[in-house]
Amino acid sequence: MRFSALALLVVICTGALFSNQTVQAQLAVSPPASPGSLKDVSVPPVPGLVNYIRDKNAAIALGKALFWDRNAGSDGMACASCHFNAGADNRAKNQLNPKLNGVFNKPFASSSWGPNYTLTGADFPLHRVSNVLDRNSAIVSTTDDVVGSAGTQSGTQMNLLPKVGVACTSRPAGDAFHVGIAMTRLTTNRNSPTVINAVFNYRNFWDGRANNMFNGVTPFGPRDRNARVAEQQADGSELLVAVNLINSSLASQAVGPALSNVEMTCVLKGFKELGRKLFLIRPLRDQDVAVDDSVLGVYRYPTGAGISVNYGALVKKAFNPKYWSSTNKDAEGYNQFERNFSLFWGLAIQAYESTLVSDETPWDKYVGSKKLNIPGDATAMTSLGDPNDYSKVSPLRGFDVFMGKGACIACHKGAEFTGAATRLLFENQEGGLVERMRMGDKEIALYDNGFYNIGVRPTAEDLGIGATDPFNHPLSWTRQYANAGFPAFGISTNPDKFQVNPCTFEILVNPSDCLQPPAQGSRVAVDGAFKTPTLRNVALTAPYFHNGGTGTLEQVVEFYNRGGDRRGEDGSDTSGFGSNGSNLDADIKVLGLTSQEKADLVSFMRHALTDRRVACEMAPFDHPSLVVINGHRGNEFNVTNAIIADKADDALLNLPATGKNGLLAIGRPCLINDKGE
Ligand code: HEC
Ligand code: HEC
Repeated sequence: MRFSALALLVVICTGALFSNQTVQAQLAVSPPASPGSLKDVSVPPVPGLVNYIRDKNAAIALGKALFWDRNAGSDGMACASCHFNAGADNRAKNQLNPKLNGVFNKPFASSSWGPNYTLTGADFPLHRVSNVLDRNSAIVSTTDDVVGSAGTQSGTQMNLLPKVGVACTSRPAGDAFHVGIAMTRLTTNRNSPTVINAVFNYRNFWDGRANNMFNGVTPFGPRDRNARVAEQQADGSELLVAVNLINSSLASQAVGPALSNVEMTCVLKGFKELGRKLFLIRPLRDQDVAVDDSVLGVYRYPTGAGISVNYGALVKKAFNPKYWSSTNKDAEGYNQFERNFSLFWGLAIQAYESTLVSDETPWDKYVGSKKLNIPGDATAMTSLGDPNDYSKVSPLRGFDVFMGKGACIACHKGAEFTGAATRLLFENQEGGLVERMRMGDKEIALYDNGFYNIGVRPTAEDLGIGATDPFNHPLSWTRQYANAGFPAFGISTNPDKFQVNPCTFEILVNPSDCLQPPAQGSRVAVDGAFKTPTLRNVALTAPYFHNGGTGTLEQVVEFYNRGGDRRGEDGSDTSGFGSNGSNLDADIKVLGLTSQEKADLVSFMRHALTDRRVACEMAPFDHPSLVVINGHRGNEFNVTNAIIADKADDALLNLPATGKNGLLAIGRPCLINDKGE
């Protein structure tokens, strides 16, 4: 589909419209389009999905159950354990990760730090300079450590059926994740982004490694050439077939954590084992489901503990029998249902996450929907702060900063508030997967559209999309295109198949660009670049950035206002890497915002972009109860380890079940109120 659309563009470019297009593109710095309503953006379609899913609602129910079930992972870990707060993680205890050097580094000497430390507002931002307006002023505090998410506790032991959700024992003693002799839970080395609206991302994860194409088994799409699922043939035999579903980055993503020994399992090494473990289990059996849960309510078990259909039955209801009905067993005795479990897991969780669309923010109401013929409501924004009243903050004035002086729109664009969204990469035809721009150092470079180096941390600490996958292919599309020698017509086939259209590049060096691919040796600026996150509901998802090092939106705005946190100039520029002296984006520069402009910009993000249904956990954001593991009993110096000698006891946080009417209906406050407080 997308191939032919792009091929057509190439024809247009080389045809009569050629000169017109060029002129337009050279003037590409025309005013950026105002973001519309998310109601006008469709969830990217997945051609061929009907061959796998026969009952979409059953798939959504299965996905929601799997996502929230603490028996799905080891050590009580559900997907939701790290994505329970507006789709992200706001735990403060035991979240630190030592990143590359494997050693916890206090941001400043007097602070307390390390495993089971409880972060406070005073710790943020982790990187602090003496003059908040000058990124090169003396460093007051800094660390390469990351505020990640706590996951499982230990990393060894095979623990097969029928035990569930229990007992991982013994990790090698002496690793960094210990308080005294007691093991603490492992943590991720990046901050958890929200799963809400993630369906609009062309690729997922901060570094885009969850491939747009789902191969049925692993996160890496066509890069993993061995990925196959078992398909039953008409004669009853089984054939191993490749799956290649596009716009399925969420399915690619979902098959990652399930087998990760940091995130969800210290026990299971393969999906067929997970399938066996879950087959007979009653979903959510240790958790409450609200009577009026928007998805699971109809399946609710009479006592309210979980739902009454087991996972096997839900898979069979949701999926084509070709993928589960064969009774053949492999050499280890696993049947087709078990062997194909990654397929069901990925597609069901994707089906559920595809319903997590927050398109009812004040912003969406303000602009109205063309598609649904809903007129814009001017009061939706003015009631949050009158733009003519300079004694108070105003999200509408903040929007002007967002579009103008702040240049935020350059990257957080469209109704998705991120240029990494599928629609913006294809339908808008501004650029495409690979783009060309003028960098902060004024030189021209190619890069992966939607992924930018904004100088949060020195590039050498985390290459982001500049890194390689386990098969040693670059994650970056631009590098693949470069490795292929910038082929004519921009078609790159290894390992991802995609087409680059030089006609749509923001910067056309000369008019013949439409006919010629970029010159050999063209600069590629992808190291240290990360996916532009959406700004929807961002008020609810602190801490910020891939390292979780920034605590408030005010601090984020200060960061941008001083031109980011990269240090030094030519040669010593911490955003540089490899042959590039700097990879910093041109829009990351000193902004000179007034205090009023800063406050207004924060107010735009906080007030205008929060969907009340997300803040109040109403449908489709309602959910079963969950015992969230919130660090360990004790602190960073002492923990109790009464239950199992070498394991620190968990501290728990009880998240109550909400039904479709959300938190208020069960007598709980929303995460923030309508005023964004
Ligand atoms: C231990 C905590 C943890 C668990 C458990 C976990 N995640 Fe995540 N999740 C993260 C972190 C951290 C990231 C970012 C990692 C990265 O980008 O390198 C992430 C990224 C994601 C993203 C990408 C969003 C984006 O904008 O890029 C999605 C979607 C997601 N997780 C869904 C899931 C699902 C589905 C599960 C269960 C199968 C799950 N997570 C389990 C911590 C967790
Ligand atoms: C050059 C592109 C670019 C521009 C311009 C830009 N951003 Fe960002 N933004 C990003 C990227 C990329 C990230 C993630 C970077 C990282 O974590 O390393 C990000 C992260 C953020 C986050 C953190 C979100 C989260 O979930 O962690 C906020 C908030 C934000 N930007 C707001 C803004 C505002 C406000 C402006 C304007 C002043 C702005 N951005 C300008 C690309 C950009």
